[in-house]
Amino acid sequence: MTAVPDMTPDPLDPQDRATLEGVLDRLAAKLRADEPTLGVRFPYVTAPDGAWMTMPASASAGYDGDAWSHGNWFCGFWVGLLVAAWHRSGDDWFLETARERMKLTAERATDPNTHDIGFIFSSSAVPLYMATGETRWRDLGLTAARQLRARVVRTPEGAYVSSWGPLDDPRGRVSSAIDTMANIPLLYWASAETGDASFALAAEAHARMTAGSYLRDDDTLYHAVEFDVATGRRTRGFTFQGYGDESSWSRGAGWAVIGFVASYAATGDPAFQALGARIARRWLEQLGDRTCPPWDFDDPAETPDEDSAAGAIMAGGLLDLAASYEPDDVTGQGFRASAIRLLTGLARSHLLPEQGPRGILTGGCYARPQGIGVDAAVLFGDFFFVQAVVRLVLDQRFAVTLSRV
Ligand code: GLY
Repeated sequence: MTAVPDMTPDPLDPQDRATLEGVLDRLAAKLRADEPTLGVRFPYVTAPDGAWMTMPASASAGYDGDAWSHGNWFCGFWVGLLVAAWHRSGDDWFLETARERMKLTAERATDPNTHDIGFIFSSSAVPLYMATGETRWRDLGLTAARQLRARVVRTPEGAYVSSWGPLDDPRGRVSSAIDTMANIPLLYWASAETGDASFALAAEAHARMTAGSYLRDDDTLYHAVEFDVATGRRTRGFTFQGYGDESSWSRGAGWAVIGFVASYAATGDPAFQALGARIARRWLEQLGDRTCPPWDFDDPAETPDEDSAAGAIMAGGLLDLAASYEPDDVTGQGFRASAIRLLTGLARSHLLPEQGPRGILTGGCYARPQGIGVDAAVLFGDFFFVQAVVRLVLDQRFAVTLSRV
């Protein structure tokens, strides 16, 4: 694995630091208040009245006729938020609660229906292992990584990780979504932990296939693609959460940057870094001087719904990207400044109050065409926001990230 240079970043402006520390204190207070209300269920998005909507961790992805349900791919993020609150507060109640929540989540490590086990376990078992050193969480993360590796589909043009469905179902077997790029860091982590290169090879193959099939000429991305498995050629690019098949769904670019920078860190191939940088630049250009991106850059509405989660996810990707350059490299410094602008902007304009509506960031947009979690707090947005804030404020290697800050 290529060493990513240590970075001694510019200190945070004191006002920005105070703003971001306030986010972590707000998080701790809200987790404490929410936990007793949840039973064995996990939050995923807020309802219009601001209350969490919840489901059990056991809700697996699956087809119901032709309709696909993503199941509970959110549960790991709750565990990760508890670990983040422990990093800030040092209060062991957060770790103990995270352990209990992890037990409820554990069964999903062998779920054969979804790439989302990457999201679930890289946001929960890995941070919990890193915080406690308890090997049972490492083992659980590795079990999930094996299940994710089993989703590799080989073609004459390369291999990819199928995103959803049991692999004997052709509808899922031929499909891959850009979100998978943010699941493959679990594979790189598993390789580094075990020395078994097959995890990293699966992730790298997926990143190469993604690089060759998702990017449009203007550096925006398809949300999902289908392949002809016999030839490895893309048969179509499409969306299910974006505005249209040819539109620029704002969240997808963040998922892509995370995966390409992780691929650069793991393989040392500068093409992955360059691709991450191109996608990030294009996204920042589309964002302009806004604090929060629209849910889709091509929604023609005068005031399109926002997606604060897309902003938080890209901020994390930009921090990864920044750390992949030498500390004195102005390109890396520019990406870090953009990340800080996004995070402090969201903290000042989208932070939810301690009382009343639940969650950390308002203005998230989970699945607009399906009408789920629109103008809401969305748990994955809160997680990626907090993860980036923890890295900046506590200089803490908190979850699966191959870079130091
Ligand atoms: N499944 C990941 C997303 O909704 O972005």
